[in-house]
Amino acid sequence: LPVVVLISGGGSNLQALIDGQLDGSLPVDIRAVISNRADAFGLERARRAGLAARVLNHRDFVSREAYDTALAALIDEYAPQLVVLAGFMRILTPAFVTHYQGRMLNIHPSLLPKFRGLHTHQRAIDAGEQEHGATVHFVTEDLDGGPAVLQARVPVLPEDDADTLAARVLQKEHLIYPLAVGWVAEGRLKLGSDGRPLLDASP
Ligand code: GRF
Repeated sequence: LPVVVLISGGGSNLQALIDGQLDGSLPVDIRAVISNRADAFGLERARRAGLAARVLNHRDFVSREAYDTALAALIDEYAPQLVVLAGFMRILTPAFVTHYQGRMLNIHPSLLPKFRGLHTHQRAIDAGEQEHGATVHFVTEDLDGGPAVLQARVPVLPEDDADTLAARVLQKEHLIYPLAVGWVAEGRLKLGSDGRPLLDASP
């Protein structure tokens, strides 16, 4: 499955996908990794794996619309069947989201619909949650609100701070994101025409 991965930061989820591609467990062809930040460590991960690593800096564009138009043009150079958002810290325009309708996944570090947006780990602690986690979802215009595909749960421990909790959640992210991407690659997961995910979970 031809894939383009969008990142803004460390890229540990990207690394999980790269590892799956390299060890043959994940039938994807990561054609490019694109970052809006030149200093994202995930770009280094891409280069080390011999993947195309591209930067498109949002500061070079006058508007969100102009950036997203250029971003879509860059992505489409690689003709991906799936766009994977892996810590891409940008709000996307409706036109961009519509262009990739049913072809774009995101991973969000909370048990959606709880804690959309930023600082999810601290907010989960502050809310006294006993469980927290991560959600893979199709991207729609509804920020962090698209149809959920897969969730992983972790306990919130009394001694947790945002960093220890984030680390526990990330370990699960690295399992569930390749799993969901693999389902798309195998043709087992789609976004149905009614806007709900269709998963064929037969072995
Ligand atoms: C992850 O927690 C992901 O859920 C969120 O951003 C973080 C990215 O981490 N969207 P990394 O860059 O993959 O290490």
